[in-house]
Amino acid sequence: MNLNQESEVISFLLKISNVVGLSAVAVMLMLGIVMFLELTGTKINFPALTESAPPASAPTVTTPPEEEMWRAPDLAALPATPEGDQIRYGRELVAHTAEYLGPEGSVLQIANGLNCQNCHLDAGTKPFGNNYSLVASTYPKLRARSGTEEDVVKRVSDCFERSLNGEAPKPESAEMQAMVVYIKWVGKDVPKGDTPKGTGLIDLEYLDRAASPELGKAVYVQQCQVCHGDNGQGLKAAGNSEYTYPPLWGEDSYNDGAGLYRVSTFARYVKANMPLGATHDNPILTNEEAWDLAAYINSMPRPKKDISKDWPDISRKPVDHPFGPYTDGFSENQHKYGPYKPILAARKK
Ligand code: HEC
Ligand code: HEC
Repeated sequence: MNLNQESEVISFLLKISNVVGLSAVAVMLMLGIVMFLELTGTKINFPALTESAPPASAPTVTTPPEEEMWRAPDLAALPATPEGDQIRYGRELVAHTAEYLGPEGSVLQIANGLNCQNCHLDAGTKPFGNNYSLVASTYPKLRARSGTEEDVVKRVSDCFERSLNGEAPKPESAEMQAMVVYIKWVGKDVPKGDTPKGTGLIDLEYLDRAASPELGKAVYVQQCQVCHGDNGQGLKAAGNSEYTYPPLWGEDSYNDGAGLYRVSTFARYVKANMPLGATHDNPILTNEEAWDLAAYINSMPRPKKDISKDWPDISRKPVDHPFGPYTDGFSENQHKYGPYKPILAARKK
């Protein structure tokens, strides 16, 4: 390279650095203007990067915005009136049922030691935690299980007799009245006919195979046993009236007429709520694990309930109702564990 060529290169480099410097100044200026407009509240519309709709084949993932998720009314806003006190007492009974109505209950001894809240999380206010959001707007209603019109007292009594394997407090008792008033208060802002996001339990797709107690047992040992015990017995600390970890089978668990005894209901409950800390948007179990756990836990021994009067119209039994007779010719075993899709297909014919 001679001297001449060298100076040409240098002047070229200088030109480039000038251009770079100038563009930097221009960018800073533009940012300054934008910030100024933002600060002064002026609306500017930048051209959208993609004006056209996404191709029809693209999967559209719709995450509902958080404000659409159902939320229970604010407990702190309850007035210091007799009505407010009754709702607070109802909540207390739902949250700490055993303390008042369990085997050593301070009011009555009529239930097995579970709390309503063990299954209706956060006293029936957790999204997809088996909450009470729809009770106020849907009861009284005709239920196919009993074949009768049921009010909230009847529905609460059902959970006492099945999930709590005991007896219900009398309809006119202060305890029943308070629980009913509380449960209705939880759903008071839901308009009739509306099904807000987060209601009840999450939906789960059916597996193509039968749910497997053997596979479920392996998951249980890994994910559940630490709290619920090596024999499903749960944990109750000495001197406590309620469980730290409630039992999942055995004498002190829900009976075979309870909602959780349906494999699908159990799977939908655990998917969004267990192991403790799981939520619908942060689940810990896969769908298969949830189904297999439901099969395992519901294959273990538990109290029996005479449910011969349930489902007066047997054609209305849910696909996974585990007790015959049925109108479709499938076995009790297939109704209990699946696969459910062939049963559904046969019913549609
Ligand atoms: C072992 C679990 C468990 C316990 C304990 C339990 N429940 Fe339930 N409860 C359920 C299940 C499961 C359902 C039905 C969910 C479904 O099928 O969608 C249910 C349904 C209900 C419903 C009807 C909800 C609706 O939207 O139709 C009410 C009300 C209710 N329970 C009240 C109570 C009360 C009050 C207690 C305590 C006295 C209680 N439950 C204890 C599991 C339980
Ligand atoms: C860290 C401890 C912990 C682990 C692990 C755990 N649970 Fe639970 N589980 C609880 C507690 C605590 C409750 C009661 C929740 C409440 O009252 O708020 C509960 C409640 C339940 C209930 C409803 C009440 C009942 O007794 O029927 C079921 C069903 C259940 N768990 C199943 C499972 C399954 C299945 C697993 C494993 C995937 C699991 N849990 C893992 C602590 C745990």
